[in-house]
Order: sequence, then structure tokens, then C-alpha cells
Amino acid sequence: MKRKALATMMAAAMVLSMVGCGGAKTDSTASTTTTEKTEAAATEAAATEAADSAASADATVENKDKPLCWFNRQPSSSATGELDKEALNFNGNTYYVGFDANQGAELQGQMVLDYIKKNAETIDRNGDGVIGYVLAIGDIGHNDSIARTRGVRSTLGTGVEADGAVDSTPAGTNVDGKAKVVQDATLEVDGKTYTIRELASQEMKNSAGATWDAATAGNAIGIWTASFGDQIDVVVSNNDGMGMSMFNAWAKDNKVPTFGYDANSDAVAAIAEGYGGTISQHADVQAYLTLRVLRNALDGVDIDTGIGTADDAGNCLVEGEDYRYSEEDRSYYALNIAVTAENYSDFTDSTRVYDKVANQLDESKSPSKKVWLNIYNASDNFLSSTYQPLLEKYDDLLNLKVDYIGGDGQTESNITNRLGNPSEYDAFAINMVKTDNAAAYTSLLSK
Ligand code: BGC
Repeated sequence: MKRKALATMMAAAMVLSMVGCGGAKTDSTASTTTTEKTEAAATEAAATEAADSAASADATVENKDKPLCWFNRQPSSSATGELDKEALNFNGNTYYVGFDANQGAELQGQMVLDYIKKNAETIDRNGDGVIGYVLAIGDIGHNDSIARTRGVRSTLGTGVEADGAVDSTPAGTNVDGKAKVVQDATLEVDGKTYTIRELASQEMKNSAGATWDAATAGNAIGIWTASFGDQIDVVVSNNDGMGMSMFNAWAKDNKVPTFGYDANSDAVAAIAEGYGGTISQHADVQAYLTLRVLRNALDGVDIDTGIGTADDAGNCLVEGEDYRYSEEDRSYYALNIAVTAENYSDFTDSTRVYDKVANQLDESKSPSKKVWLNIYNASDNFLSSTYQPLLEKYDDLLNLKVDYIGGDGQTESNITNRLGNPSEYDAFAINMVKTDNAAAYTSLLSK
């Protein structure tokens, strides 16, 4: 009797929460008895076994018609940033999943500015009236990297206009404040005027060509500090991988706040030791969406299922809070959150699945399918320590068998060579080395 009452209450609660999520079916939510559960588990195990042994791709679908999700590197021109609409519309089941680069970039800039304002009295280490920062740039041709450089420069006032946007060109060394791609800014705090200067910035690319390179950033801070270390008051980085490298090499010991991007677990933990802050690009939402759009396309259900509309298992995100979707760009963009000393304890595990979408799909409705997925650089900090572990959790929940291919970060062919037999797979998720290289993949799928 009691159990029944509880079940009714739970079902009612479920209906409410699902309506809030855009409305969806409400059956299958009542609690089950122990016997039912055991039976269900046995059926499920049998289904999994059957699906596993039958885990070969559907031979009736041509590769060019299979679902495709670009992620983390949006097909676009590395010279102009213009989106590659052909790649984004490769077929009717093609999508991009990333994060809102401009919203995140602004947040990062604001986080740095807020910190400077709050600590104005003590931040200028050598007391020369100039608050100097250095900036590690990830990849001058990657639109997310460009957005972050622009965001920091425009919020701090150090950006200059070039072709209608803030120039994102690396400044090289600018200790004298004479560089053309940035300018000195002034900041007034409590009646005192400070100059803000980008002392140096550079693309962190190693000699083999890998971008966003943490080791290169560690070397750069060594070179910079050897000649003008006492002028560096703040370290800023396009990502945490490079930021942590600079923090560990120098900034931590010298108590210089360092700001990154990604909210990798190690960076979040470092906030307790003086790392200034980072931005969560909601990798838990992105990893889910990357696989979810494939799942929906494979199941032939509405693309919004389990995204803006709850699925049968109760998975549902909130548009405008967790992500936004642009039909024109065929792109899902996760929304960013600033992670600072005030809230970092909520972000300590960057590989935890998002509560709202942590429910297992029913294998009888969403049977096991095979997915080919690559990571452009197996040693990229964000993708390997945050994104992939999340994908590996969601692939189980979504009944997808994913083959993970790790690239070297430099050569596209190192990855495309491993897409030798696309017919073995039902769907593809692609993270290019260079954002301009979509055709290297779509040509293989079109054969
Ligand atoms: C991340 C970087 C990462 C890059 C790889 C960005 O979104 O912030 O850490 O290296 O993606 O494409």
C-alpha cells in the first residue's frame, strides 16, 4: 500500500519535471517490485548480449547518409572564421557540438577584470602603476582560441580594432607598450589610475606543429620571466593545459594569479593554491550532446529527444541554461560558467556526468550501435582528461559502442588513415586537427 502511494507520488513528480523540460511521455516511471526488477535485469542482460554479438553496422545505409557529429573544432576557415556550411550540412543528420565561444570569452575577460579590480591595491607587484599580464594563445587559426584572445583584450581594454573586430594577433613581446596589435588601457579603482598592459603573448605551438601546447607555454613563461618577471602581475591563458603549465613553472611560487579555460580537475583543484580561475565550458553537456545527436538520428526520433524534450528515461537539458541551438549553423553550443574561488568546490570532478542527463536508455528502444570517434590530439589536456572520460560514461548510458581514435595533434592523415573502413560503423564523431579540413573526412564518407 505504502509502496503504491510512493509510486504515485514519484510518477506525479516525474510528470511535473518533464513538463518543465518541454513535455514528453510519462509512462514507465512507477517503481517496480523486486521480482520485476530481477526479471528486468535478466532481460536487459540478454538484450545486451544479443546486441553485442550483433554489433556490426547496418549494411543497408550508405556511409554518406550516416549520422555525423563534428565536435570541439567547428568546420570553418582558419583565416576568416567563416563557417564551412557545406561540412555542417553534409547530410540531414549532420551537427556540430561545441560551446558558446563569445559568451565564454566575455566571461573569462570579466573574471580577470573583476579580480584585478578587487585586488588592485596589491596586484601591482613592483608598484610601477602598470598592471602587466602575459597571454598564452592556443591556435591562431581556431575560432575558439581567437574568441578567447579577443574576449580578454576587449574586456581589459587592451584590444585594437582590425577589420571590424578586435585583433587577435599575438603581440610577441610588448614590455615597452609599443605593439600595434594591442594597446595600453587605463583602469580607475578607488580614485587611483592604473595602466593595463599586455606585456607579451604568443601562440603556443611546438616545433612539430602541435598547437595549444602546454610544454611550450611552460618554456615561454621561463623566457618571459627571465627578462621581465617583476612586471608580470597576471597570467592569462586560452586554456587550462597551458595555464597550469605556466602556473606550475612559475606563477604559483611567485603568487601570481593565473586564469585559464576548461575547468579541468587539476586546474580547479589549483584554485585552492592561488590559480585565479577558469571557465567551465560545460563539457558534461557537450560530451552528452556529441553522442546524443547520433543516438537520436540512429533511432529515427526527433533530434530534440533527451535534449530540450525529455526522453522516456527522463533525460533532459534546459535550453538557454545548459545550451543553445542554432538551426542555421546546425550547431549546439553549451553555455559556459565562471569557476573561481567562490564556487570552485562545485566543480572539482570535471568527469562527472551531468545529473540531468544521467539516465540509462532502454536497449530495446535504442539498440547497440557502433560509432567511430576521434580526438585530434591524444595528449590535449582538455580532451583527454575531461572530454573523453565523459564520452566513455555517456556511451554506456546511450548504448553506443564507440571506437576512440587518438591523433597526434599535427597531421590529419594520421587520423583519416584510421577511417579506412567507414562501413563498419553506424555513425561518426569527428574532431579535426585543423578546422578547415572537414573535406578530408567527408570525402572518405562519400566514396
Ligand atoms: C579547449 C582546449 C583544447 C581545444 C582543442 C578547446 O575547446 O578549451 O583546451 O585544447 O579545445 O580543440
